[in-house]
Amino acid sequence: MRDEMVEVLLPEQQIQVRLDELGRQIRADYAGKELTVVAILTGTVMFAADLLRRIPGPLRLDYIGLSSYHGTTKSTGELVVTKSLKLDVRDRDVLLVDDILDTGQTLVKARQMMEALWPRTLKSCVFLEKEVPHVGNVSADYVGFKIPDKFVIGYGLDYQERYRNLPYLATLSLKTPAPKAP
Ligand code: IMP
Ligand code: MG
Repeated sequence: MRDEMVEVLLPEQQIQVRLDELGRQIRADYAGKELTVVAILTGTVMFAADLLRRIPGPLRLDYIGLSSYHGTTKSTGELVVTKSLKLDVRDRDVLLVDDILDTGQTLVKARQMMEALWPRTLKSCVFLEKEVPHVGNVSADYVGFKIPDKFVIGYGLDYQERYRNLPYLATLSLKTPAPKAP
């Protein structure tokens, strides 16, 4: 752990203020409707918990497991379904929630999985969007923050399953190993 450095990118307070706006906007857009939120594990735990508390009214929540990272800061390109959907979404207003839109693979795959189940409407919401090209130009309907192309941790996001519990978002860089003494 000691050879990893962190720098705060989004302090806790800034995240909470933005979530107030996002929650208001989503509730207004779905006024009079029951929302079915499908959050993608595991990175959305904090975001979904904080956001959903700001969306009053009828709402159902389910989680799906989709994993593309296997212990490094680079995607392997493979997506594995680690937990399938339990709720019915046919003819429902579905909002997919993910932690971060990076290459876009996860969102494309999650959208395909949902579309196959015939929701009435399908939108997506991500806590973060990295300012990089996304596959198929996929975009999210609601974006918490746009961030530069850096590896980030905290507020649910991990590096090798650690740091999810940080209440803020930080960048993580790996120190190059110190040269060996002759
Ligand atoms: P995508 O499929 O490349 O868009 O990546 C989405 C998934 O990759 C997210 O749900 C995260 O789990 C993971 N991911 C992408 N970038 C980061 C990062 O900077 N920090 C931690 N996890 C990330
Ligand atoms: Mg992850």
